Amino acid sequence: MEKSEIINHYLTKRNFLKAFFIAIAGYVVALLGSTVRFMAPNVSYDPPTTFKAGYVDDYAMGTFSDRWLDKQKVWIQRKRGGLVAFIAVCTHLGCVPKLVVDDNRITCSCHGTNFTLEGDVISGPAPVPLYRAAIKLSADGQIIVDKEKRENRPGLRDKEPYLLKA
Ligand code: FES
Repeated sequence: MEKSEIINHYLTKRNFLKAFFIAIAGYVVALLGSTVRFMAPNVSYDPPTTFKAGYVDDYAMGTFSDRWLDKQKVWIQRKRGGLVAFIAVCTHLGCVPKLVVDDNRITCSCHGTNFTLEGDVISGPAPVPLYRAAIKLSADGQIIVDKEKRENRPGLRDKEPYLLKA
């Protein structure tokens, strides 16, 4: 078979129409798929910003707990005077810093910010201290952390609702 015969064989009117209708069918399926996706509600799968964090006695005096770090990006510190919920999100560009309790600091390895255990910036590019979430007790005695309410200013962050007296 010569080259022109091969080309003519594949470019018959029937083959052209078959390819054309397959392309149109693909286009219609893609259009329908995107329309169905558009009609479906956009659901956020983020964890709720308010969560129950167990009981006061679950947290030993003088410790930082990372029990809620993976799910909620929160550390709970129990210190003399009460409990504090730190939001474990760096105030520079949002990485999750690492708690280095032995070294009395919180370190963000993304760009090298160091925070004190109070959340204040020691060094690095983070412009403001780490935030603390509102924390209180529910009627059933469990701790409730509300990450929507947050504070990082000294003075304000050290009292209710950012400090749960216990
Ligand atoms: S995100 Fe933490 S230092 Fe940049």
